[in-house]
Formats: sequence, structure tokens, C-alpha cells
Amino acid sequence: MTLLIGGTGKTGRRVADRLTEQGHDVRVASRHSDTRFDWDDESTWPAALDGQRAAYITFYPDLGLPGAADKVGALADLAVKSGVEHLVLLSGRGEPLAQAAEQRVKDSGAGWTIVTCSWFAQNFSEDFLAGAVASGDIRLPAGDVSEPFVDAEDIADVVAAALADPARHDKKHYELTGPRALTFAEVATELSRATGRHIRYTAIDHEEYEDVLREAGLPVELGDMFRGILDGRNARPADGVRQALGRPARDFADYATRAAAEGQLT
Ligand SMILES: NC(=O)c1ccc[n+]([C@@H]2O[C@H](COP(=O)([O-])OP(=O)(O)OC[C@H]3O[C@@H](n4cnc5c(N)ncnc54)[C@H](OP(=O)(O)O)[C@@H]3O)[C@@H](O)[C@H]2O)c1
Repeated sequence: MTLLIGGTGKTGRRVADRLTEQGHDVRVASRHSDTRFDWDDESTWPAALDGQRAAYITFYPDLGLPGAADKVGALADLAVKSGVEHLVLLSGRGEPLAQAAEQRVKDSGAGWTIVTCSWFAQNFSEDFLAGAVASGDIRLPAGDVSEPFVDAEDIADVVAAALADPARHDKKHYELTGPRALTFAEVATELSRATGRHIRYTAIDHEEYEDVLREAGLPVELGDMFRGILDGRNARPADGVRQALGRPARDFADYATRAAAEGQLT
């Protein structure tokens, strides 16, 4: 049995689909799943971990926020006590607090695979930027920084491979990105091409972005994190998809075409 924490999220549900198709038993856990798991309620953790051989850990809202590393570390330690042999952690590039969480998983005593990812392409269709795309104006404090957006389909391919064959991916730390970095203005161009609508990017400052986060009901601390990671540190593409799977990563243009065809960019 494989536990998928956050198994209904952007990456978790894709991992669940892949493992189920391959005939593996999965236990999807989150606040609203049949197996209830809440990062803010440790009493829900033991039953979720019981009887599991491996676990995929996605933290919510973001591994790069204060307090995340302690929670993930406590979960990893409990997982080992519960007999879980392999942990796969979803992490974010260039985030010091996320690196602390990665270390806690490496130190837990379980086998581990870490997937440290760039921004997900699916943020524009399935997450906090979907409303901006629908409005035709993506407002972010990203200046002209470029980002090698990774496709959640590639993340799920790597995570599912690691969970299905832990020995092969044990103690591997994969940096997952797309094959090329795009500025947010270039993203807007790709999304416009794919949808046939005019979608623009507007660079705003960090103070204005705090208001955007508040209006969207998102943690204002995300603004501090973006202030750190949207400085060009993550612009270089990495080859984690090829290392893990032996094939190139999917391009953002392919994501945009697919998401538009599936009606996810409206
Ligand atoms: N988006 C990016 O660009 C990006 C880049 C790098 C890394 N990451 C990392 O990705 C992680 C998020 O993974 P994701 O994007 O696959 O998920 P997601 O789409 O954000 O979905 C969140 C999942 O977590 C569950 N959840 C929400 N609150 C929870 C809580 N208090 N306790 C337990 N489960 C909870 C949700 O289900 P319920 O509502 O049923 O609880 C859902 O299954 C974050 O840690 C972030 O650091 C994101």
C-alpha cells in the first residue's frame, strides 16, 4: 500500500491515477478524503500511516513557509516508526525552508526520493493563477525574471516511478523543471496562442501583490517567499526528468495547448 498525502491535489491525483493503472494499491489522504489527514491535526496521522509501505508527501500550503519543516520532519519520523520504508517528498526550488524539510526526510531513517520542482505550469489552470488567466491579466511581482515551468504530468511520472520502484530511486534528489525558461510575458504569449484570447502579464510590486494574496484568501507569507524565489535564482533549467526517466521534460507550449484543448484555461 502506498499513502498519498495530498492525493487529491495537482500532483497527488496524477500519481494516484498512474499507480492505480499499474495495479498498485493507493491510499489517498487529505482533509476531505476517505482517509482523513490534516497537517494541522496530528491525531489524524497514525491511522493514515498504518500499514503503508511507501508514502508521497505533499505539504500544504507550501513547503517553503515557516513551520513546514518541523511538521514534515515529525511526519517522517512517525512514518518510520509505523513501518513505512520509503518516502517521496515534493519540494520547491530555491526555498531555504523547503531545504530544511528535505533534510528532515533524508535524516528520518527511511529510504527517500526528493523531487525539488520549479513553478508548476498547472498554476495557470488549476491553482492560484487560474483566475488571472480567466481575467486576461496575470499580475505578479516577477519583473522580467524567467522560470523553467515544470509540467505536473512530468512530476507525477517521476513520483510514480519512485513509488513503484523505490530501490531504483533511493537516495536520489531530482531537480525537476521544464526544458526552457520563460518570462511571465512569454507565458502570457503562449497562453494567448493556445486559447486564442489576449492574455497579458502585468509586473506589479511586492506591496501590491500582498493585496492580491489577501483578496484571494491566500497566506500573505507567500509574498515573502515569492520575493525570495522570483529573483532569477531558479531560471536555469535542470535535467531531473531525464535523470529519473531517461527522456526529456515536457515543454510549456505543450502544456498550454493541452490545457486549452481540455477547457482548463477559460
Ligand atoms: N505550485 C507550484 O508551483 C509548486 C512548486 C514547487 C513545489 N510546490 C509544492 O507543492 C506542494 C503542494 O502540492 P500540490 O500542488 O500537488 O497540491 P495542491 O494542488 O496544492 O493540493 C493540495 C492538497 O493538499 C490537501 N490539503 C490542503 N490542506 C491540507 C491540510 N491542512 N492537511 C492535509 N492536506 C491538506 C488538499 O486536499 P483537502 O482540501 O481535501 O485537504 C489537496 O489534496 C506544496 O508543498 C508546495 O510547496 C508547488
